[in-house]
Amino acid sequence: MWMLPILKRTLPAVLLAGCAATNPPPPPDFTSYVVLGEYGAAVARVLIDAPSCPEIVLNQRPQPMTLRAPAETIALRSTPFAAADSKPAEFPLLTCEAALPVRTTSASVLGRSLPLPKAEPQRIVVLGDTGCRLQKSSNSYQACNDSAQYPFATVAAQAAAWKPELVIHVGDYHYRENACPEGNPGCAGSPWGYGWDAWDDDFFAPGAKLLDAAPWIMARGNHENCLRGGQGYWRFLDPRPLLKGRDCNVAADDDAGNYSDPYAVPIGQATQLLVLDTANTTWKGLKPGDTGYAKYQDLYRKLEALAQRAPRNLGVLHHPLLGMGADRKADGSIVLLPGDAGVQASFSSVNPLLFPANLQAVLSGHVHLWQQASFSSAHPSQFIAGFAGTSEDIVPLPDKLPPGVTPAPGAVVEHFSSWVDGFGFMTMERQGPDQWAIEVHDLQGKIRNRCQLDGRRSVCEVAQVK
Ligand SMILES: [Fe+2]
Repeated sequence: MWMLPILKRTLPAVLLAGCAATNPPPPPDFTSYVVLGEYGAAVARVLIDAPSCPEIVLNQRPQPMTLRAPAETIALRSTPFAAADSKPAEFPLLTCEAALPVRTTSASVLGRSLPLPKAEPQRIVVLGDTGCRLQKSSNSYQACNDSAQYPFATVAAQAAAWKPELVIHVGDYHYRENACPEGNPGCAGSPWGYGWDAWDDDFFAPGAKLLDAAPWIMARGNHENCLRGGQGYWRFLDPRPLLKGRDCNVAADDDAGNYSDPYAVPIGQATQLLVLDTANTTWKGLKPGDTGYAKYQDLYRKLEALAQRAPRNLGVLHHPLLGMGADRKADGSIVLLPGDAGVQASFSSVNPLLFPANLQAVLSGHVHLWQQASFSSAHPSQFIAGFAGTSEDIVPLPDKLPPGVTPAPGAVVEHFSSWVDGFGFMTMERQGPDQWAIEVHDLQGKIRNRCQLDGRRSVCEVAQVK
């Protein structure tokens, strides 16, 4: 995001009017980013209020960008909320795109340079769950106007300052679902609903520095299923072509729009990232006969086939299958929650071990904390990085799981580490084909924990970050 919109939000109108009178007109405001998709194909995206898409300059040669989605308002469809708390999604900007061919050495749009993918990224930022929660049904209204309580912009700036070569967002971008109640200064003035204004304030504007810093992998969370932010997911984030009927615009098409195939992004040294769409699973579980049960069986089979294309793989899926959450019951006691029951049921019907044998680790979000788990059983390490902006899950986890407690049937936890109630981001630095150094950074950019991933095993310096 270019600077002017931030200025617009903070400077008095009179001052802006003065600037406009004396200075040449500013270049148009627009949003730009690069997303990686199938087999690592890079796509440049530009969101812009203009009559047509701008040109992109690749290796000094101007080329046309293509229109991915026009400016339009989508008729109101079903949402998780009553009609009075829903509205049609307005997208007043063009979504433009252009493929970045492998030999691209420079890319820019309207004078702004775009980040280019590295064949073998050494420095990776992992984060997720970044939006500001405004939800009527749970009476949850995060203070979006307070950067201490909604710190995604700080997280994004710190993560950008770390100079990543690749950013992985593990899903859940859009949280501003309902209107801020009158008289609540914490979120007063926030846009809401599933249109551009809420997407901009929740993701593109606060994430701008990190979007400029490196190409992204954009996994899909449950907040981007068709009932919720799915229209924005397909229009803005998914790396593949936008297809009519797979766009979440009409509820009757949701069986197509709620699911998509996995894809592989090679990251060098014979390693692939395998990105899975688990947006429409449910913690309540799935059973044979349920649409999702069959869809995720298909997802697993395709994952297995993709995994065969490289000796080693890292999984990226929003819902942790091998991580733990915690909830506080009405009587005050704490109950530990296992991994996502829906995907677990479906995947384990194909492979009781849940993941292919050459999948080294799994990167997830969904639980709003940071966590690591390593297993003495034949399971990959699990990392959870859902601590980058959305209200934290603050029910404490134990520093050691009680005997017999496991995130998935058959999984035996050997090492377990967590940080509850702290905002930040995770980083991964390549140390060898099978080895990664992992760090947990806080809002000040301070390192709060260090882990080593070696093959499928991982271990961290601190069991519980305080
Ligand atoms: Fe989630």
